[in-house]
Amino acid sequence: MQIEPQAFDRVLSSMCTEPHPVAREAAERFLATNPGDPGTYPAISSLEDDAIEQLGEIAGLADPAGYVTSGGTEANIQAVRIARERAETATPTVVMPESGHFSFQKAATLLEVDLQLVPTDDDHRADLEAVRACVDDDTALIVGVAGTTEYGRVDPIPELGDIAQSVDAMLHVDAAWGGFVLPFTDHDWNFEHAPVDTMAIDPHKMGQAAVPAGGLLVRAESLLDELAVDTPYLESTSQATLTGTRSGAGVASAVAAMDELWPAGYREQYTRSQANAEWLADALTARGYDVVAPELPLVAADVPAATFEALRDAGWRISRTGTDDLRIVCMPHVTREMLEAFVADLDDLGGQPGTAGTETSPRPAETGPAGANLNSASPSGGSETDQSRTCRNGPTPGSPGDSSSD
Ligand SMILES: Cc1ncc(COP(=O)(O)O)c(C=O)c1O
Repeated sequence: MQIEPQAFDRVLSSMCTEPHPVAREAAERFLATNPGDPGTYPAISSLEDDAIEQLGEIAGLADPAGYVTSGGTEANIQAVRIARERAETATPTVVMPESGHFSFQKAATLLEVDLQLVPTDDDHRADLEAVRACVDDDTALIVGVAGTTEYGRVDPIPELGDIAQSVDAMLHVDAAWGGFVLPFTDHDWNFEHAPVDTMAIDPHKMGQAAVPAGGLLVRAESLLDELAVDTPYLESTSQATLTGTRSGAGVASAVAAMDELWPAGYREQYTRSQANAEWLADALTARGYDVVAPELPLVAADVPAATFEALRDAGWRISRTGTDDLRIVCMPHVTREMLEAFVADLDDLGGQPGTAGTETSPRPAETGPAGANLNSASPSGGSETDQSRTCRNGPTPGSPGDSSSD
């Protein structure tokens, strides 16, 4: 029996979406090509150059370099790798708000760098004072998120750039999700707005390309040299990617989607998605839920666990933040009709906030970055691993004034 792929009509938590028809068609056409071997597959290699040009235009970078990655995870790992290679210290660290994506945990472990997590402020953005208190001569990289996974927030990127420069560190912006909506907002997030060195920006999320199509952009081509290895048996001389063989489908579909949609189509999509997010936020607020206002098309609300479970049982693909808020990502496939049906089910199943259905099933532990476990007391491996720890704004951990539990 042939298994059908997941339909999108009840998917409200994914950061991926149904590819645009032109992206789907291009993916199929280039399925059997490998941009990892440009000497053998020059057509897809030249399309990859186009992809980077287009991503550069979207991200405010006039002479861009980079490549189409397997996703935001790879782009983030590679950014950490560049910073580690550039660092002049033997013990390089990465400073990141706790809202950063868990892919940085993987980067830290693989690359054996210390990931220092700083708290976010009351509005879920990087707390600048905490970042200032955390950086030092070992800081190789500061990460700012432009469109956080859990709350859709944009960190103060120019200010993070100033802090990075003050300690001679690099600045990476994770715009893996936000990069295709931020150009239509007033946020300062890109290479023109701040001394950004590297960026993750994924066509396979808001860019409506087929998976796998992530993006790594670097301000100067020379930064890719930090990643390059010689490729003796290929007709090209070196390779800066993490994977070897790569899918031409992702590259071709990214170019097709960007050709079709940049900028007018993406602008329309942003407007539609943002309006949907605001409609949903209003609908939840009117029902008495505490809602985190959607700055980008992502809504979080304190829907009780029992209600959440009932909605999942009803077939809604929804998820929770590390602090148990319901999160709904208004991706291109999420229509107003879907949200109306969701709210109708919420009315049928949910009872009232703070009354019926408020008994909560405890989550395993406090979580962050974006789902990674932050509870250092947890034996099951919290985010405070060998490679990552919370950078506290105050006395040095372990010093007499420090009462933290590390
Ligand atoms: C901000 C951010 N960065 C990175 C990633 C990781 O991207 P991927 O799953 O494509 O590797 C995500 C995934 O949702 C994300 O939201």
